[in-house]
Amino acid sequence: MIWDIFVRIFHWCLAVAFVSNYWFLEEGDPPHEWVGYAILVLICLRLIWGFIGTETARFRQFWPTWAKLKAHLREAPLSFKKPHHGHNPLGSLMVLLLLSSILVCGISGWMQEWDMFWGEDWVQLTHSISADIAMAAAGVHVLAVLVMQRISGVQLIKQMISGR
Ligand code: HEM
Ligand code: HEM
Repeated sequence: MIWDIFVRIFHWCLAVAFVSNYWFLEEGDPPHEWVGYAILVLICLRLIWGFIGTETARFRQFWPTWAKLKAHLREAPLSFKKPHHGHNPLGSLMVLLLLSSILVCGISGWMQEWDMFWGEDWVQLTHSISADIAMAAAGVHVLAVLVMQRISGVQLIKQMISGR
């Protein structure tokens, strides 16, 4: 088992909810807000799971240190072909970028509802920029998964469905 059931359910719920909120649901309408809150709950649960979850879900296990990143890049493209049990160091960087940009997006969306931030341009700007960063990162993420799957021959997408 590579990805436990929590990581898999988290992943596909997050992907569907994020894409729906970015592309399909009307900005600022109640469904946008509910889906946004659901995304915030998902991310918070994932952060907790990063400390108490199974081995490949833990931040400690996949935290991308300089040493790991350098070794990964120095050995490229051979290291790209080598299957990893869990995220590879570059993949880990992307995971952290996705989680943090989506967290900022969710919190700044929520902050727009608070009286104390009413009419504050920077809150709205933070919401819109973080949403764009997260969407761009998600695009690169999906492309990278497809390319890495090709290079390594490992069925990464099937792994994120079956966990094996
Ligand atoms: C992480 C999930 C979320 C995503 C991906 C997302 C995405 C977006 C995007 C792309 C926009 C358009 C920004 C622009 O003007 O360029 C927007 C607007 C907005 N969002 Fe979200 N959002 C999320 C969560 C939330 C939450 C939790 C709330 C509030 C509870 C919220 C409230 C709003 C409001 C009120 C607007 C309209 C702002 C305006 O008047 O321009 N969003 N959101
Ligand atoms: C069809 C679209 C997608 C596919 C095929 C896909 C596939 C994958 C795969 C294979 C992994 C594991 C990567 C590895 O082996 O290290 C992964 C991880 C991840 N993906 Fe996606 N993904 C998709 C869309 C998205 C979207 C839209 C988001 C967020 C906006 C997202 C966020 C993440 C996150 C946060 C992880 C880390 C999982 C964790 O450790 O909790 N993915 N994805």
